[in-house]
Amino acid sequence: MTTIRDVSKFAGVSVATVSRVLNNSENVQPITRSKVEHAIKELDYKPNAVARTLFKKKSNSIGLIVPDITNPFFPDLARAVEDTARSLNYKVILCNSDGDLEKEKEYIEVLSQNQVDGLIVTSTNGVNDHLKDLNMPVVALDRTIGNDIPCVYVDNYEGGRLAGEILYLNGGKQIAQIRGPHNLITAEERARGFNDFWNSKGITPAIYESEFSFKEAITVANRLFDEMREVDSIFTGNDLIGVAVVNTAIKRGIKIPQDLRVLGYDGIEIGKMMIPSLSTIQQPIYGLGREVTKLLLDLSKKTEVKETSICMPLKYIKRETTLR
Ligand code: RIB
Repeated sequence: MTTIRDVSKFAGVSVATVSRVLNNSENVQPITRSKVEHAIKELDYKPNAVARTLFKKKSNSIGLIVPDITNPFFPDLARAVEDTARSLNYKVILCNSDGDLEKEKEYIEVLSQNQVDGLIVTSTNGVNDHLKDLNMPVVALDRTIGNDIPCVYVDNYEGGRLAGEILYLNGGKQIAQIRGPHNLITAEERARGFNDFWNSKGITPAIYESEFSFKEAITVANRLFDEMREVDSIFTGNDLIGVAVVNTAIKRGIKIPQDLRVLGYDGIEIGKMMIPSLSTIQQPIYGLGREVTKLLLDLSKKTEVKETSICMPLKYIKRETTLR
């Protein structure tokens, strides 16, 4: 295997000079640089990964930070990001922030040191100061984080409004929602859209809050059924909460959809697998991952992009927990 020493001998320069060329150092005479680059080409020298990254200032890799790899929504997103990146000869470094801002910052540091060519982030809680002065393109995925950071997302307010309309058309009278966490813009907007719809009908839904997790949602669903025995319609901030509500209702002998309609949000696979299968407001998860990756790589290559804020369509998927 050709070494850096072989290159230096072939080019008639020192190893240090070859290293400076690999590092894109300024203080190399043009003639010297071309002799070294000629030697690299002639000898088909393949610097190791670190040297290659320094030489080209590109690693052909991107970073993806998600807040919870145990929530099926995010692995589905990561699948699309990786498929799209690899089709364009890029690798993906996947990081799980656990919704912890300090952990997110640590991973950003690791990714910067690995000289990734760009970063896709589903933010922890909308904070973005640590994303602004990075020396690489950053794109927000799913959770927008300010107008100055490109993003690929859905209109969650419209998603919440649509959920309200669906449960209205299903004959809803006693309405509740179990929304996602207050610190997340996606949960906030869904809850707002849903509430605004019902307020326009003169009804104020009961509002409960849960983490985007099955386990906590079970507790919240039991409290809701204890406190609101006449409930006939429940919108949940994501499908994991929806699965928990259906699971709890069935155990309580509540008939779905005859006595209770349940409508989820996301469109993850588990909604199809359960009995009864979960009706949901489906996000275009694969499309989100595909479009955010294409946008990031265009920005990384400084290709002209028409739009840096891409809103993708939602869709009502009727299954067995609603009547129509
Ligand atoms: O299920 C996880 C939720 O967090 C999804 O609804 C997604 O939109 C993200 O915001």
